[in-house]
Amino acid sequence: MTERTFSILKPDATERNLTGKINAMIEDAGLRIVAQRRIRLTEAQAKKFYEVHKERPFYGELVAQMTAQPVVVQVLEGENAVARYREVMGATNPADAAAGTIRKAFAKNVGENSVHGSDSQENAKIEIAQFFTEADIPG
Ligand code: CMP
Repeated sequence: MTERTFSILKPDATERNLTGKINAMIEDAGLRIVAQRRIRLTEAQAKKFYEVHKERPFYGELVAQMTAQPVVVQVLEGENAVARYREVMGATNPADAAAGTIRKAFAKNVGENSVHGSDSQENAKIEIAQFFTEADIPG
């Protein structure tokens, strides 16, 4: 089924000029980048986006890292896009990520792991709506 997922190219990726290489891996995996924008997340945006993790010990560092440099927010579309993108990203911790995945290729550590992708269709809709309207996503 064609569906959408939400993606962030994180500060460690934008800082190292990796957005083109990561987008190539996304497109080679059969996912279409149907919207994207480079923005600097505010602290409020980062806190809200990662609210589910607010009790976790890494929450403060995560918010600090996500606001330290610009990010690229994206909407990806394709067959089973949520699961497909999670395959392409690889495991959260690059030490556990499979060969050929974005995180294996580029992530620095479990926190600075280059990309974010939604974990479910429901969360994809919620996350996309935090940054894009339908008018931003041409058909
Ligand atoms: P992401 O997929 O964006 O979702 C939560 C983020 O928290 C995760 O990627 C990592 O960047 C970050 N993080 C930092 N430390 C950890 C950890 N120990 N376990 C999981 N996520 C972590």
